[in-house]
Amino acid sequence: MSDLTELKRLAAQRALAEVQDGMRLGLGTGSTAAIFIDLLGQRLRAGDLQHIAAVATSQASAARAAAWGIPAISLAAAGRLHLAVDGADEIDAALNLIKGLGHALLREKIVAIHAERFLVIADEGKRSPRLGVRSPLPVEITPFAADATVNWLNTLGCRAELWRDAQGQPFCTDNGNLLARCWFAAGIADPYALARALADRPGVVEHGLFLDMADAVILAGGDGLTLLERQR
Ligand code: A5P
Repeated sequence: MSDLTELKRLAAQRALAEVQDGMRLGLGTGSTAAIFIDLLGQRLRAGDLQHIAAVATSQASAARAAAWGIPAISLAAAGRLHLAVDGADEIDAALNLIKGLGHALLREKIVAIHAERFLVIADEGKRSPRLGVRSPLPVEITPFAADATVNWLNTLGCRAELWRDAQGQPFCTDNGNLLARCWFAAGIADPYALARALADRPGVVEHGLFLDMADAVILAGGDGLTLLERQR
């Protein structure tokens, strides 16, 4: 196991300590969330946890959870989730996030807002002095007028493009939409203003800025685990 994978595993294991019998969970997307799903599945299979039900944030995570026999539940049936556990692409000092480089930002955001506690797990390399300096911002957009929406994104002080796979085909999300990626050379100066502009734009379905959403972040690094709790 690589050092990075071991850090992700440590963060996921710490998150698992918050899971109790009878909980309704949100399951994130990405390699760190996948480790959490595997650890959860192992605990369930061993009989150490019971009466868990979960909503997954992507088809990939749903398939992974199903392979472990983790019972699925709809958000409507669940009502509130006790806990949602997900990874992140960037985390700033205020626990604001960029998410979505695993193509799942829309479902991730929907699941997160249904959770009483939104817990982010990551290796310390995801820490960022300013959102957008390390990674592009993913934006889910409608297939209709996608190029026009990308042109508009390019007026926001970033370089935006339609996100394509290695074969040059646009990525299609689980929701049947497309994705753009936006690079901000010096990071995002005002994430709140940008989030408002994106939310107001027809053609933009959702964006990867998760502002004031994370309740806590578990960061795993060379010196061990750090739990950062949002002060509400
Ligand atoms: C998925 O769409 C993203 O929001 C992920 O949470 C993010 O890409 C983190 O992935 P890793 O855990 O693989 O770094």
